[in-house]
Amino acid sequence: MSTYRIAPSILSADFARLGDEVQSVIAAGADIVHFDVMDNHFVPNLTIGPLVCGAIRPLTDAPIDVHLMIEPVDRIVPDFAKAGADIISFHPEASSHIDRTIGLIRDNGCMPGLVFNPATPLSYLDWTLDKIDLVLIMSVNPGFGGQRFIPAALDKLREARRRIDGSGRDIWLQVDGGVKVDNIAEIARAGADTLVAGSAIFGSDDYAATIAAMRARLAEV
Ligand code: DX5
Ligand code: ZN
Repeated sequence: MSTYRIAPSILSADFARLGDEVQSVIAAGADIVHFDVMDNHFVPNLTIGPLVCGAIRPLTDAPIDVHLMIEPVDRIVPDFAKAGADIISFHPEASSHIDRTIGLIRDNGCMPGLVFNPATPLSYLDWTLDKIDLVLIMSVNPGFGGQRFIPAALDKLREARRRIDGSGRDIWLQVDGGVKVDNIAEIARAGADTLVAGSAIFGSDDYAATIAAMRARLAEV
């Protein structure tokens, strides 16, 4: 694997200066803006929605990767598409009709992704892998930044990688939660190609140095 994408989660950004933070992190070498949407229902936290997505859209050409931690999913999908989202991923437990939600995201011009909580089985890929563009393996329980990486996610990444490679499709394998400079190489070796990092980047003093350190570790994989 030679191309890795680094996706800073703006959950750990300074929300009072969100536009500046997005521009800084892209200027520092990030590839994607990871946009965490929480509803205080599916997860015990409340964050940002389509209005904020639309506000940051003109500030960067980088893809905006919307991670929906909300239930239900479908009603808000067109709003995020209109607000400029490029990728929309959702948790299968949060949709009554997973295939329909995937189609809805596609029909709205976005890349559909499925997200797997630590205890959610990969069997949800059985009848979806031919329709999705991204698989997101959660390496923490969703809801908060700054949690510790759950090691079992490595085995799950290896299994997801096996399934993706078997599909023959170009599907991104993303990991989210507890990704740091010190563990990013091990995570990439398990098969992830798209690495979300919130506190590791926004909690650092120098975003460019942190992203460069991550890329240096990835270059050794
Ligand atoms: C957690 C979110 C993550 C979070 C990652 O529910 O989905 O994107 O911001 O934060 P870190 O990298 O600090 O674990
Ligand atoms: Zn996320």
